[in-house]
Amino acid sequence: MPSPRVHVTRKLPEPVEARLAERFDVVLNSSDAPMSGPALADAMRSADALLTSVNDAIDAGLIGLPDRRVAVIANFGVGVSNIDLDAAHVAGLVVTNTPGVLTDATADLAIALMLAATRRMTEAEAVLRRGEWDGFRPTGFLGSGLQGKLLGIVGMGRIGQATARRAALGFGMRIACYNRSPVGALDFPFEQLPSLDALFGVADVISLHLPGGEANRGLVSAARIASMKPTAYLVNTARGDVLDEMALAAALAGGKIAGAGLDVYAEEPTVPRALLKAPNLTLLPHVGSATLETRTAMGMRAIDNLVAHFAGGPYPSRVV
Ligand code: DGY
Repeated sequence: MPSPRVHVTRKLPEPVEARLAERFDVVLNSSDAPMSGPALADAMRSADALLTSVNDAIDAGLIGLPDRRVAVIANFGVGVSNIDLDAAHVAGLVVTNTPGVLTDATADLAIALMLAATRRMTEAEAVLRRGEWDGFRPTGFLGSGLQGKLLGIVGMGRIGQATARRAALGFGMRIACYNRSPVGALDFPFEQLPSLDALFGVADVISLHLPGGEANRGLVSAARIASMKPTAYLVNTARGDVLDEMALAAALAGGKIAGAGLDVYAEEPTVPRALLKAPNLTLLPHVGSATLETRTAMGMRAIDNLVAHFAGGPYPSRVV
C-alpha cells in the first residue's frame, strides 16, 4: 500500500523533516515561504494530510472544497484559532494540536517579557545602541521589582500555571488568576478571583494565557486596559486577537499603564504602527516556543498524531 501523502506548509526542524520522510510520502516546503490560499487549496486536493503552522488560515472555504482529499490536519502548535473548527467538525475533518511540549518555553518567555517591561530593557538598550548612554546614574532607567507584587494570570491552564509557578517560586510574586472553571490546589499559593474585571483592577502585572478566536476576541478591551493601575504592566504570549492593540498603544503613549511586552499580534506578521511607536513596550515576533528542543518536540507530536490517524487512533492530542 502506498504511504499516505502529507503536505507540510512550512519548514520544520531537520529531525522532524527526516522522520516525516521516513514515514510518509511527504511534500516539504524547503523555501519556507508562506503558502497562498490557492496553494493551500491545491494541497487540500492532492494530499491525505496537512501539517499546518499556526499562521496558515484554514477556513471554511478550504475545508468545504468538494474535491478535498485531506482527512486530517495536524497543527504545529497548541493554538488552533487559525483553523475553522466548526467547519472541520461539520465536514468530519480531524484536527490535532501539540499541547504540553511547549509549556516551559512559553512560560519562560512570558517571564522574560515581564522582566523586559518592568526593567525597561527595550528602552534602555535603545539608548545605548544610539550611542546616547552617558554612564551610570543612581536614578537612571529606574524600573519596578517583581518581589511581592501581584501577578494576575488570565487563563490558568498549563502555560498560565507554569508562568505563575515561576513567578511565585522564582521571583516571590503573589498570584491571582481568572479562569472559567475552578482551579484545583497547586504547589504554590494563589487566589482565584471571580471576574476578569476584579483581576484587572488589582494586578501589578497581568499575563495573558487564553486561547484566541471568536470566544475571546477583544476580551482585553479598552475599558479593561483603562481599569489597570497606572503602575501596572501587561504581557501577552497567547494570541493577539484577545487584546485591543490600539487601546494598549494609546494607554502606553498616554502613560496610563507602565509598560507591556507582546509576542503575538492580531494580524501577524503585521504589527500596528501605533505599537511600533509606543513607549516601554517590548515587541517579539511570536517566538514563545522558539527553542530547538521545543520546536522539535512539537514537530514530533504532530507526527505522532498523523501516525495515530493512519493507524486508526488513538490520537495523542486530537481537537476535532
Ligand atoms: C502555539 O503553539 O499555539 C504557539 O503560538 C506557537 O508556538
